[in-house]
Amino acid sequence: MAVLKIVKLGDPVLRQPTEPVTKITKKISRLIQNMIETMYAADGVGLAAPQVGVSKKIVVIDVGDGPIVLINPKIVSGSGEDIDVEGCLSIPGKQAYVKRMAEVVVEALDGEGKPIKIEGRGYLARALQHEIDHLNGILFIDLVDEKDIFSEGDE
Ligand code: NI
Repeated sequence: MAVLKIVKLGDPVLRQPTEPVTKITKKISRLIQNMIETMYAADGVGLAAPQVGVSKKIVVIDVGDGPIVLINPKIVSGSGEDIDVEGCLSIPGKQAYVKRMAEVVVEALDGEGKPIKIEGRGYLARALQHEIDHLNGILFIDLVDEKDIFSEGDE
């Protein structure tokens, strides 16, 4: 396994719409393992493939309950509203309070290509929405006023 380089704000790959994964090849499996390792090395709770320069619909998340791998994820329903602080490994040092749905249901394939359905609430719901946004070229800073973005530790 390997720790990959995380691309930063300004890299066009972060703004490109991603391609769905059609087959879970060895190369894709290796990418997923490396994404998990990269997320842990960076002390993050989630990472999307564009953040390592790969424009594909792959996300890894770990909000403390072990790694979740989502391939071609889709939010199929959501409800409620929740505002909490958010950051992004591609925008180091910056944070903002972002309004998200409090609960979401996501359908995807897992790392083996098996269909899964995840019901996320609280911080997991937030991570799911943040990471799936990445697959559509959307960053958390797009969802808030520029004046509401602050530097970490500056709150
Ligand atoms: Ni992010």
